[in-house]
Amino acid sequence: MRLFIDTGSVAEVEEIAAWGVLAGATTNPSLLAKEDGDPAEIIRRICDLVGGPTSAEVVSEDAAGMVAEGGALYALHEQVVVKIPFCKAGLAATHVLTAAGIPVNMTLVFSPSQALLSAAAGATYVSCFMGRLDDISIDSIAVVAEIIEQFRAGGITSQIIAASIRHPEHCVGAAKLGCEIATVPSKVLRQMLEHPLTSSGAAAFKRDWESRPEFGEWLAALTDDHAASAGRR
Ligand code: G3P
Repeated sequence: MRLFIDTGSVAEVEEIAAWGVLAGATTNPSLLAKEDGDPAEIIRRICDLVGGPTSAEVVSEDAAGMVAEGGALYALHEQVVVKIPFCKAGLAATHVLTAAGIPVNMTLVFSPSQALLSAAAGATYVSCFMGRLDDISIDSIAVVAEIIEQFRAGGITSQIIAASIRHPEHCVGAAKLGCEIATVPSKVLRQMLEHPLTSSGAAAFKRDWESRPEFGEWLAALTDDHAASAGRR
């Protein structure tokens, strides 16, 4: 499963792209509305930082407006994917944009039947909102599992994005089901780093190594020699 970051913050993408774990990004109007600066610059910068598909969402409520906004957003950067909210107009706009070769991420998908319609309209990505399903006591894992099952059974190639991720278990659950992508807020990505045994293990390795200062000198010299010989090559 590939990991995208779900944010409108360039600073967050800068921090987490440096970990080398991101394959893409998703924004939405709520996330971008929290940020200062030119949205076009923010979207372009996120595209450059992640070097992969980056969703930017339309806000028009009619199909023609969605198509016009989608074309303009797509023109911002080669990595832009047009994010379209699920609705009748959104399906029609998806059909037009994908026919023109513009990739669409259908968002606000909460049921297997909505996912089927999204795929039928041509969406490259279908975003199922796990956290918001759990918020209303619908088992998000069961919904994602059903979407995956029906796509695989029918040979549907639209990629499923697990979205509205609230905790690491959403990610692990989506990955175990075979979801292609999870789009994850920075807070949850940071939570995914943590384990008390990792921290205590690293502290013990450091303490033991530092008890032998001559070994530290040996490794520093080895590293310097290697860098010098690599520089001569
Ligand atoms: O980007 C869409 C989605 O991930 C939003 O999540 O936390 O607002 O439900 P959330």
